Amino acid sequence: MMHAKGLLKTFNPGTPIENRVLRGLDLHIETGQFVTVIGSNGAGKSTFLNAISGDLLVDSGSLHLDGQDVTRQNAWQRAGLVARVFQDPMAGTCEALTIEENLALAWQRGERRGLGRAVKAELRELFREKLSILKLGLENRLTDRIGLLSGGQRQAVSLLMASLKPSRMLLLDEHTAALDPKTAAFVLELTDQVVAEGKLTTLMVTHSMRQALDHGDRTVMLHQGRVVLDVSGEERARMDVPDLLAMFERTRGEAITDDALLLG
Ligand SMILES: Nc1ncnc2c1ncn2[C@@H]1O[C@H](COP(=O)(O)OP(=O)(O)OP(=O)(O)O)[C@@H](O)[C@H]1O
Ligand SMILES: [Mg+2]
Repeated sequence: MMHAKGLLKTFNPGTPIENRVLRGLDLHIETGQFVTVIGSNGAGKSTFLNAISGDLLVDSGSLHLDGQDVTRQNAWQRAGLVARVFQDPMAGTCEALTIEENLALAWQRGERRGLGRAVKAELRELFREKLSILKLGLENRLTDRIGLLSGGQRQAVSLLMASLKPSRMLLLDEHTAALDPKTAAFVLELTDQVVAEGKLTTLMVTHSMRQALDHGDRTVMLHQGRVVLDVSGEERARMDVPDLLAMFERTRGEAITDDALLLG
């Protein structure tokens, strides 16, 4: 489970460019729940994911993963709990390393000791088996540099890397945004599979309302650093894209009015 309570984060405080990005964000996610996250540019979605992964520390509030208080832990300390796939296919993999070296790095995530230079034979077999699930023929290209792969292939490998070791949370930040529609659909299908198999508690940020409703079992909307909409169950099952869009517009309008009132 993931429990975020009253998260606050202000960039450049006390300067003319002060930016209050997280403004009291509360969200509780049960173990195994798959939540899609929508919200306009600058709503604080990536910042929230950075706060969960420990890539940034919040100013105040608390964050629990699986009952553990990780609020003050850095990314390295949380690495065994959180796996992540970014929007940019280049961000999640190391271009200069081979496919198997990248997978070996993911295999070591959250561990103190390295594997040594050689990738052990049994690991290679495991990687081959995992890669074959992708049906991209990558199981025969273990020693190819990952820089040679297309964006979609890299995202597929990134997902595999994120799910290689059991983790508590999977964070997906617009991870199909840079892909063509067909490849995006493939990576999304793979996402559903990986989440279901690993029973992962998942947050998936997307700008596609269609994706937000078609994947996972709950949708939340962030606006100005807070959760302003939270739909699941029957209500969500009955929703279509126009309903969600209407809610998106209405909620944004209301939130802006609320803020204006507070300021006024
Ligand atoms: N490290 C940082 N330093 C200063 N400002 C930052 C930093 N990271 C994010 N911001 C600012 O915080 C705000 C929220 O950014 P964030 O990336 O969380 O938005 P987002 O909801 O992910 O938007 P998008 O849909 O465009 O990805 C933006 O105004 C952004 O410029
Ligand atoms: Mg973002």
